[in-house]
Amino acid sequence: MNESGIVLDKVSKIFSGDVAAVNDISLEIAPGEFLVLVGPSGCGKSTFLRCLNRMNDTIPGARAQGEVHIDGMDVYAPGTDVVKLRMRVGMVFQRPNPFPQSVFDNVAFGPMVLGTHRGSSLADVVEKSLRSADLWGEVKDTLRQDALALSLGQQQRLCIARVVAVAPEVILMDEPCSALDPIATLRIEELMRTLTEKYTIVIVTHNMQQAARVSDRTGFFWLNEQRAGILAEFGATVQIFTSPRDRRTEDYITGRYG
Ligand SMILES: Nc1ncnc2c1ncn2[C@@H]1O[C@H](COP(=O)(O)OP(=O)(O)OP(=O)(O)O)[C@@H](O)[C@H]1O
Ligand SMILES: [Mg+2]
Repeated sequence: MNESGIVLDKVSKIFSGDVAAVNDISLEIAPGEFLVLVGPSGCGKSTFLRCLNRMNDTIPGARAQGEVHIDGMDVYAPGTDVVKLRMRVGMVFQRPNPFPQSVFDNVAFGPMVLGTHRGSSLADVVEKSLRSADLWGEVKDTLRQDALALSLGQQQRLCIARVVAVAPEVILMDEPCSALDPIATLRIEELMRTLTEKYTIVIVTHNMQQAARVSDRTGFFWLNEQRAGILAEFGATVQIFTSPRDRRTEDYITGRYG
């Protein structure tokens, strides 16, 4: 078990001016929890996810407020090693983004550069990671083939293998299935279910069925009167989907918007 909990205290992210893309969010994510974030476009879901591994850092003029702690690591402390942080908090994006290299090299790259494979051989780490990402059976005889020759669903599982290869504690996924067909989507959902036994997972999705199917708790994002992104409702997925407290949540999840 290498999962870690996350504690957020009054986290805000402002890109420019004084409107916060993410406004004053405090919450605790338990180790091994599967949290899903939903809500209309532009409410700060991706920004929130990126606050957890400092992916927003390089945007000129942007500033972050509040504190994020991941199993004791103070994410925004001046001395925090961002490379180490991103090793502990891996990320999978909306569109699969394998490197234009072989399947093997895609997975081996992280452990090789970061030296995380230690005792085991790279080949073992690659096999283990591809097995965890439910891709091994399909690629074991073609490991030297270009990763871009894989189907989109396979490429997304390869990107998950790439994250798993450096032994993270938390895995963030921003709409990981939105470029995939329903069968590839189900495959990734099943995979997410098995990953949650070992990792803390936070995903963003626009697919309400997916949110209800896979997660333990759900966070519902919305814009307040100042057009800042807020966490309007947060709770057990069953509660959010069966008896939401907030009228906006109910309207959104039952499809009355968009
Ligand atoms: N790099 C950036 N520079 C400036 N503003 C940004 C940047 N990224 C996001 N924003 C702004 O922050 C707000 C929240 O954007 P974000 O991408 O987090 O929304 P989202 O909830 O993920 O939306 P979607 O569902 O469409 O992906 C938006 O107003 C957006 O314009
Ligand atoms: Mg987004």
